[in-house]
Amino acid sequence: MNNIFYKQVVDSTNLWAKEEGQRDALHGSVYVADCQTAGRGRRGRAWESPAGENLYFSLLLRPTFMPDKASMLTLVMAMAVAEAVRSYGAEAYIKWPNDIVLHGKKLCGILTEMHLQPRGSYFVVVGVGVNVGKKEFPPEIAHIATSLWAEKNIRINREELLEKILQSFEKFYREFTLRGDFNLLRDAYNDILINRGRTVKVLDPKGEFAGIARGINASGELLVEKENGEVVTVYAGEVSVRGLYGYT
Ligand code: BTN
Repeated sequence: MNNIFYKQVVDSTNLWAKEEGQRDALHGSVYVADCQTAGRGRRGRAWESPAGENLYFSLLLRPTFMPDKASMLTLVMAMAVAEAVRSYGAEAYIKWPNDIVLHGKKLCGILTEMHLQPRGSYFVVVGVGVNVGKKEFPPEIAHIATSLWAEKNIRINREELLEKILQSFEKFYREFTLRGDFNLLRDAYNDILINRGRTVKVLDPKGEFAGIARGINASGELLVEKENGEVVTVYAGEVSVRGLYGYT
């Protein structure tokens, strides 16, 4: 079971979790806020975090597996969020590696950060932002962002949603750590992968290319089939994947 800590206002739950991790906070601790004044997204972007509407939390983990696998926890969390959201009848999909989409728009983002500690130990902070009750989005993101309330007209209790996500995460995390890979989870993941069978553009620093996404492998990498039939494995840290049409 998780120790859950709550603050009404915080700069960023990921930063809060990092500080607590450096003070020896326990594996499974969860840091939740109603509002973030400096919510952080991937690639240095900000994560809009108004009060009273959405779910913002960070889960602190002290995995026993090697740190090179830590980035895969993003995928484990994506499965947990998708399962929790689907329990409300919303057809959520995963956009590899770290977004949850609903009706082609982004519902949730995940920011996983690893922190090395002295003597070779490390901990991981998995930060999750779910748009729950937001109705209006700023014009620059209105075409790509959505919330459960905007899309499904369902009012969701944020505490209940958090509980469901944590329960699902615990289950998937157990399955992940049994083998240290996605062998047991891959089929379930690929079933709800929005990119699967679609054309994606891979923004590789060595050069962009397009192909059809075929699903993830046991290492959580995305398999992309190029036009010439060659299948390339795409690692989340190196590249970004865009659909050719619209957000997904
Ligand atoms: C993304 O860019 O898609 C990732 C967004 C992650 C946002 C969440 S909200 C809770 C946690 N605290 C942060 O500062 N960021 C993450």
